[in-house]
Amino acid sequence: MSRNMEIDFCGVKFKNPVVTSSGTFGFGKEYNDYYDISALGGIGVKGLTLKPRTGNPPPRVAETPSGMLNSVGLQNPGVESFLKYVLPQLKKIDTNIIVNISGNTMEEYCEMADIISDSGCHIIEMNVSCPNVKQGGVAFGTNPDTIYEITNKVKKHCKIPLVVKLSPNVTDIAEMAKAAEAGGADGLSLINTLLGMSIDIHKRRPILRNNVGGLSGPCVKPIAVRMVWQVKNAVEIPLIGMGGISTGEDAVEFMLAGASLVSVGTANFVNPYAARDTVEGIEKYLDKYDIEDINYIIGKVEAWN
Ligand SMILES: Cc1cc2nc3c(=O)[nH]c(=O)nc-3n(C[C@H](O)[C@H](O)[C@H](O)COP(=O)(O)O)c2cc1C
Repeated sequence: MSRNMEIDFCGVKFKNPVVTSSGTFGFGKEYNDYYDISALGGIGVKGLTLKPRTGNPPPRVAETPSGMLNSVGLQNPGVESFLKYVLPQLKKIDTNIIVNISGNTMEEYCEMADIISDSGCHIIEMNVSCPNVKQGGVAFGTNPDTIYEITNKVKKHCKIPLVVKLSPNVTDIAEMAKAAEAGGADGLSLINTLLGMSIDIHKRRPILRNNVGGLSGPCVKPIAVRMVWQVKNAVEIPLIGMGGISTGEDAVEFMLAGASLVSVGTANFVNPYAARDTVEGIEKYLDKYDIEDINYIIGKVEAWN
């Protein structure tokens, strides 16, 4: 029996709910060597800034139990180079493009939104939650007033849907979500990485050169599911759920919690086929429970009283 896997997210049609998380899929090219990535609903590209960035000094990744720490620090070629050299190739792939943007100032975010709005990409994902940069990033994403202000400003420069990516490094994620919604966000994505630290006990030094970094992978999944569920109960706008998804079962868990799209991140480093396997895993779940339409399961967890 044929199942509907299509999702309408902020007015954009996704052939299935599976996308990839910014910073874990490059610009898609390397993964396209493994499989045809047009099998995915969309591709989230590495976080872009107005000017190129070399990122933080190494070591900037470290393995942890069931996950990893990173302090890459938004290494990227800059938005102009992306548009000129990367995007034309990416557009040949029949899938949606989610462009992740970061800035040092609110004005930089606005300028990038202007540039990307006319590029033929599908969604702007505004990263106000990067824990690995000194300016901007998470500095904007942990205060509801600032989230409201930046969303409100950037939205005026967007001709395509604006998704605000939330930080889990806050006490009340629902409050941040409501601030973004009030500011005019079309959707939300969550979670970005959790601030963490590992120490080499023999050298008595932090393993990351940046001392601290963002934790991701299966170890963060229960936190991410909890936050998606809390946010789903607090706002009307649709959500992209992420944080430790590596299988179809994981993805279904996020969708039941309230995510309309699900994003595969760190799992891509462990299994390059993870995102494609996630699509297949969701289809198997629909088959098993004889569900005709993927949209049916969104937010359908029956919480205990
Ligand atoms: C190496 C690495 C680089 C990342 N770079 C970005 C980035 O540039 N912009 C962003 O919004 N999130 C970035 N993230 C966060 C992921 O997009 C995602 O939100 C997070 O890792 C949680 O999902 P996961 O546990 O499935 O990886 C990065 C994560 C990792 C592991």
